[in-house]
Amino acid sequence: MPNSVPTFTFVDVPGGMPLLGHLGTFKKRPLETMSTWWHRHGDALRFRLGPKTLHLFSHPDLAEEVLVQQADRFVKVYDPRRPAGLALVLGNGLVTSSGEIWKRHRRIIQPIFHRSRMAAMADRMVQVGEQRIADWGDHEGESLDIAAEMRQLALEVISQTMFTTSTAQHIDQINHALRVSLKYAFDSFQNPLRLPGWVPTPRNREFRSVMQFMDGLIYGLLAERRQSGVQHGDLLDLLLQARDEETGVGLTDQELRDEALTIFAAGHGTTANALAWTWYLLATHPEAKARFHEEVDRVLQGKAPNVDDLQHLPYTRAIFNESLRLYPSAPVLQRKAATSTTVHGLPLHAGAFIMVSTYNLHRHPAFWPNPEQFLPERWLDGERPAARYAYLPFGAGPRACVGIHFASVEGPLLLALIARRYNLQLDQKTVEPEFFVTLRPRGGIRMLLQPRQAPVVSVA
Ligand code: HEM
Repeated sequence: MPNSVPTFTFVDVPGGMPLLGHLGTFKKRPLETMSTWWHRHGDALRFRLGPKTLHLFSHPDLAEEVLVQQADRFVKVYDPRRPAGLALVLGNGLVTSSGEIWKRHRRIIQPIFHRSRMAAMADRMVQVGEQRIADWGDHEGESLDIAAEMRQLALEVISQTMFTTSTAQHIDQINHALRVSLKYAFDSFQNPLRLPGWVPTPRNREFRSVMQFMDGLIYGLLAERRQSGVQHGDLLDLLLQARDEETGVGLTDQELRDEALTIFAAGHGTTANALAWTWYLLATHPEAKARFHEEVDRVLQGKAPNVDDLQHLPYTRAIFNESLRLYPSAPVLQRKAATSTTVHGLPLHAGAFIMVSTYNLHRHPAFWPNPEQFLPERWLDGERPAARYAYLPFGAGPRACVGIHFASVEGPLLLALIARRYNLQLDQKTVEPEFFVTLRPRGGIRMLLQPRQAPVVSVA
């Protein structure tokens, strides 16, 4: 039998400038640039951002090698001795750490997000969703930025599931602090030629001030919980109680701070953007929207959804999957080679930077029929992509999303909850994606909030 594993050779992206490399083009529109390069030059590319050479992979076999088969050779890009990018904000939390620290934290945290805990979390999600859309009652018929609304909703969900009501009065400040700090972190990664953090520029000062606010808030909550001993049944309680099954040791305050902030940051922007894109796709595909509304009305019969309803909402789940295919919240997964290695014949030296583009993988014509079309049906009846690693909205291998069950409950539940009451109609001409920490709609998405008729409840 012929060997079906393709061999690859690197193509160097043309047009790099002396010193800056491809920084100019890339920084302006990273997502479109990576997509155009892939279409023009192929699945394994090399380009430069200032002094750094990056390797862009857009093939499932390459993704599998980096994320799964050789996972121990490819670490996260952050260096704990010289924090940069997201690590400036999230410290040594799950997203940014590597090696033994990451392994220990993952062992401690993974059980918190076990599927069996999701029913209790789901009740909180629905409660928050109900409150939020009750506030929409004053805005019926109006045009809202649905991306901002979804961000607020997802922030309130993670806030309530993580801290119960303790942070409710600070939600706007947290929103602001996260925005400022993540933008700062993202810019610092995108532009390696930026001024260092110790220079007292207004940006650096603002960053320090929002970090002080978030640290103060989290350390304050930790102290309060420890002192009062009151149980809230939320993620913070679970984090405080969690112990390493191998050693019986829990997380220190600094580690708790890093993980709380990590889960907070990783657990809302991703979901918020996935929801915003889903509303956009539904608004631009009336047949899919009608089928979705029909399913929600038939299954829920006017009541609020719960976790058990999800199994009866396959089309709603398919819509969410398909939306994550076209607009994956994490459009690239970044890694650094810990040692020199080869990946399907491609040489990578120790320290080499790799970007696995989920955005490109999810639209790869060799693995998806009609890759650019929104077709939720492709997820029904157990249909799966032609290649296992052609669909990676939650990553793959040991570093796959720890919140996958949480997000897979939260996304469809909130969609169903909102669709029960509202029909969202697009109120702007064009919407384009922007890669900013996650994949978000540039400038938001304005939508008209149209109340729906209460569904007719069928009599058995
Ligand atoms: C639709 C929603 C979500 C998407 C698309 C998503 C996507 C991802 C992806 C792709 C990764 C892997 C990144 C990599 O390999 O470099 C990841 C990791 C992670 N996600 Fe999610 N995520 C979502 C929701 C959540 C939620 C709700 C939480 C927590 C409540 C969460 C917490 C995390 C954490 C802590 C990691 C790091 C895991 C590790 O490296 O061990 N995510 N997520």
